[in-house]
Amino acid sequence: MIYAEGIRKRYGPAEALRGVDLEVPAGTVCGLLGPNGAGKTTMVRVLTTLLRPDGGTARVAGCDVVRDADRLRYRIGLAGQHAAVDELLTGHRNLVLFGRLYHLPRRTARLRADELLERFGLADVADRPVKTYSGGMRRRLDLAASLIVSPPVLFLDEPTTVLDPRSRLALWDMLRELVSEGTTLLLTTQYLDEADHLADQIVVIDSGRVAASGPSSELKARIGGDRVSVVFREAADLAEGVQVIRAVLQGDPEHRLGDEPDDRLEIDRAEHRLTLPAEHGAASLIKIAAALDGAGIAVEDLGLRRPTLDEVFLQLTTRPDAPEGGGPDRHEAGGPTGRAEGMTAA
Ligand SMILES: Nc1ncnc2c1ncn2[C@@H]1O[C@H](COP(=O)(O)OP(=O)(O)OP(=O)(O)O)[C@@H](O)[C@H]1O
Ligand SMILES: [Mg+2]
Repeated sequence: MIYAEGIRKRYGPAEALRGVDLEVPAGTVCGLLGPNGAGKTTMVRVLTTLLRPDGGTARVAGCDVVRDADRLRYRIGLAGQHAAVDELLTGHRNLVLFGRLYHLPRRTARLRADELLERFGLADVADRPVKTYSGGMRRRLDLAASLIVSPPVLFLDEPTTVLDPRSRLALWDMLRELVSEGTTLLLTTQYLDEADHLADQIVVIDSGRVAASGPSSELKARIGGDRVSVVFREAADLAEGVQVIRAVLQGDPEHRLGDEPDDRLEIDRAEHRLTLPAEHGAASLIKIAAALDGAGIAVEDLGLRRPTLDEVFLQLTTRPDAPEGGGPDRHEAGGPTGRAEGMTAA
């Protein structure tokens, strides 16, 4: 439904996109992930005909983004990174206006506006001018506007950036529903968990190039995946603790570390901390906890850690000596020291 090959775009001397390829099958979600300035918005603007690419070709819903731009615009919805709604009009008027721009009859436009305001939790403020809305309310109104006509392809540029956790979850639900009805969705985000929850396929871009792409499970495995972190109460227990954990891992082929287990065990003697890969997430954690308890070793802190987005970028994008495209050889040195997610992360 979305196909791009070798897309290039420069702003004056600065190259924002340096040959980006993308392929999104119908009815799936593609998460475009990248740090500030990576080129996410530029790519969305190219795909939604707002910017003409300098090189490469792209088709959306069967329409070429340059040659068939007019036709293409009727087949897509877009919520840009910055609100496109009118400050002086009420929320309701804004949505009716969008509906009219899409040539909906007046009555249909009104009904659709009511429905969307309800769905986005804006019914109470529907008759207030947008300038009195909070940031999150504006964002929701903007997202509602992108859904006025249920388009086959929807582009959302950082849809949840200013939303509170409840609105964020509500939006995720709504998007999943749309996708289950057949919508193809491309969203940009800086949040790995958002891409993880919604996207069938994640494309990481950095400095205008695709740094890595694939299903989130593949990508996470490539950047190192979950790790268990154990902090021993006594420094003296560290050596024995390492032995106990190695015994657990070696004894269980499912949880085996591989031939050279020490390569992936990270030991911080000052903090009495041991970090190791948790191929099976919480299951690995439980085995380790039981073994340490059985050996009578006191533990100060035990948790499952996930790589943070920062680490994704560090590992996938910023090693100047690393090969292009991020081969599996890029994640071996060191290990993620991500935020602890405790026992809840599985
Ligand atoms: N209108 C413009 N004129 C000049 N340079 C621009 C323009 N728009 C974007 N750029 C540059 O192009 C690059 C990519 O910008 P883009 O907005 O696509 O990034 P992004 O991934 O969306 O970032 P963010 O996460 O901050 O939204 C940046 O270096 C940016 O400074
Ligand atoms: Mg952007």
